[in-house]
Amino acid sequence: MTTTMHLAFPEELLALDPQAQLPLDLDSDLLDTPALLIDLDVMERNIVSMADLAKRRGMTLRPHAKSHKSTFIADLQLSSGATGLCLATVGEAEVMWRHGIQDLLLAFPVVGQAKLRRLRPLLDAGALTVVTDSVDVAEGYSALARSVGCQLPVLIEIDSGMHRVGVLPERAGALAAEVDRLPGLQVRGILTHAGQSHQAADQQGIERVARDEVRAMQRAREALEGQGIQVDVVSAGSTVTTPYLSADDGITEVRPGTYVFNDLRTLSRYSCTPDQLALSMLATVVSRAPGRATLNAGSKSITTARTDEHGHGHLVNRPSSGFRLLSEEHAVLGLATEDEDLQVGQRVRILPIHSCVWMDLQAEVYGTRGGQVVRRIRVDAMRRSL
Ligand SMILES: Cc1ncc(COP(=O)(O)O)c(C=O)c1O
Repeated sequence: MTTTMHLAFPEELLALDPQAQLPLDLDSDLLDTPALLIDLDVMERNIVSMADLAKRRGMTLRPHAKSHKSTFIADLQLSSGATGLCLATVGEAEVMWRHGIQDLLLAFPVVGQAKLRRLRPLLDAGALTVVTDSVDVAEGYSALARSVGCQLPVLIEIDSGMHRVGVLPERAGALAAEVDRLPGLQVRGILTHAGQSHQAADQQGIERVARDEVRAMQRAREALEGQGIQVDVVSAGSTVTTPYLSADDGITEVRPGTYVFNDLRTLSRYSCTPDQLALSMLATVVSRAPGRATLNAGSKSITTARTDEHGHGHLVNRPSSGFRLLSEEHAVLGLATEDEDLQVGQRVRILPIHSCVWMDLQAEVYGTRGGQVVRRIRVDAMRRSL
């Protein structure tokens, strides 16, 4: 007689021992590495200062939750003045809606029945606004809205220079009129993302991108109004361009995402200061040779993101050593003479090039205060790319 073997899935592996009592020191054996840490004081200050900035400039704040994917952090943003959330995927929207967040903007064209049908409950609850840059995409929304029996708010996506998605401002009026005529849809305004700000050479260049963003939205607004469409929402602004925008420019809402943690990209874009960097990866030295230390955090933990200025990241308190090579599980550091003290088993912290992609890889991250872990934070929408 043969017996059937039932192979259970391995339990979820978390860096912090489920039995660990908090607070806990960062060198405790109960905290394994790589482990992603959030300095809670820094994050909370970032959340409050962006909310204050938007308020001072007369704009509402709708943070992009793709940067953190965490309902805990979303709640902090909402309780500090954000009016709703922006999401990139249906999966992220589902997580935030099930958590009870009722004002969601899905800033990505939703194409295909597999995704559209998952939006039904959100439409039913009146919790969703969608975007489009084509009649093709809008027809999918229209069929869905009709089947649910609701009016679905839509924003027309404008290309303000990134050339990723969006129509040129001059085309926006005609498109908005066509979309608005589709049953079940109501065009409420326009949206843009000026992500080309990351390529600007200097601070003046960033401000020029922000001015282009404003001008594109002003032209698009006129185009919609020329078609008799009322524009209630003019949604723009990222972590990099929001400081240059205001209600006086006609912007009603901003959607920064990365600001919640910041990273070396936003630092090099003059969008934060070093004391506003909230995220770091705790990693362990697993091999040593003269001039070389190897860490247990490779591209599957810290991703391949890099900049010419920072390589794959910055080592906290060891600015003269840097990344030499990254493979999937290893990061090889070239060590400066003053860092030859590093030993196998010692822990170091790495600052991220791009914090959003680090968060997406973690099921759980760890909130710290005063150098101790004080809170577990679930990344509820981890890897929800569908
Ligand atoms: C549509 C949209 N809005 C807002 C943002 C937020 O940008 P950032 O994370 O630079 O603040 C992004 C980022 O990719 C985006 O794609």
